[in-house]
Amino acid sequence: MDKISFKPGTMLNPVPVVMVSCGTEPADYNIITIAWTGIVNSEPPMTYVSVRKSRHSHKLIQESGEFVINLCNEQLAFATDYCGVKSGRDINKFKEQKLTPVAAEMVSCPMIGESPVNLECKVTQVISLPTHDMFMAEIVRVHADKSIIDEKGKILLEDARLICYNHGEYFGIKRQPIGKFGYSIMKTRTKKRINKAKMEERKKKKINAKFQKGKD
Ligand SMILES: Cc1cc2nc3c(=O)[nH]c(=O)nc-3n(C[C@H](O)[C@H](O)[C@H](O)COP(=O)(O)O)c2cc1C
Repeated sequence: MDKISFKPGTMLNPVPVVMVSCGTEPADYNIITIAWTGIVNSEPPMTYVSVRKSRHSHKLIQESGEFVINLCNEQLAFATDYCGVKSGRDINKFKEQKLTPVAAEMVSCPMIGESPVNLECKVTQVISLPTHDMFMAEIVRVHADKSIIDEKGKILLEDARLICYNHGEYFGIKRQPIGKFGYSIMKTRTKKRINKAKMEERKKKKINAKFQKGKD
């Protein structure tokens, strides 16, 4: 490949885009859109959000040491953008975007009812950086909407129509996986078994859909 060199920039893409809810009293409930977030540890599960020191939400998270990461789907894309350009200093974003604050289990700030997956987080460490503070946090509870949980209790994130952020634009994630974890070293026999199981699953779904149509 023939490359051109650029000045340093935050050119890591795509990144997740989430709505982070914060504030512990109903009058203070707020939402900030965050793209600078990620997972940093497995046991305990840990994450971070990097928040510019001037944000209204920065004060709320710093004061309570708590926040909720709400994953965003295609339906929430508009609200996600709105919560990333308006400040809770001036407006109530829950009200403006008709989002429902729902009580969390382990933290005092609200979850967003319309989000398919919510991660309750407790701050464990704050790393002060030149423009942002990185709030490192433990994920203390996870909630997923029943519509994306299968009969075995598995969360089907592939059905959640989640979005990501790529160089200034929001993108949906197509339901077309390229491969599964470890597929690069998978034995042919295992591949065949998985493909067979997938075909059977698809067939079952088709039959169920036909049956359902007949009933309607
Ligand atoms: C897609 C997107 C991603 C953003 N990511 C971040 C981020 O990671 N950190 C941050 O401090 N601000 C981020 N922002 C900006 C804040 O969401 C924005 O300034 C918001 O209005 C702050 O709200 P508040 O004043 O109510 O806290 C992002 C905005 C958008 C639209």
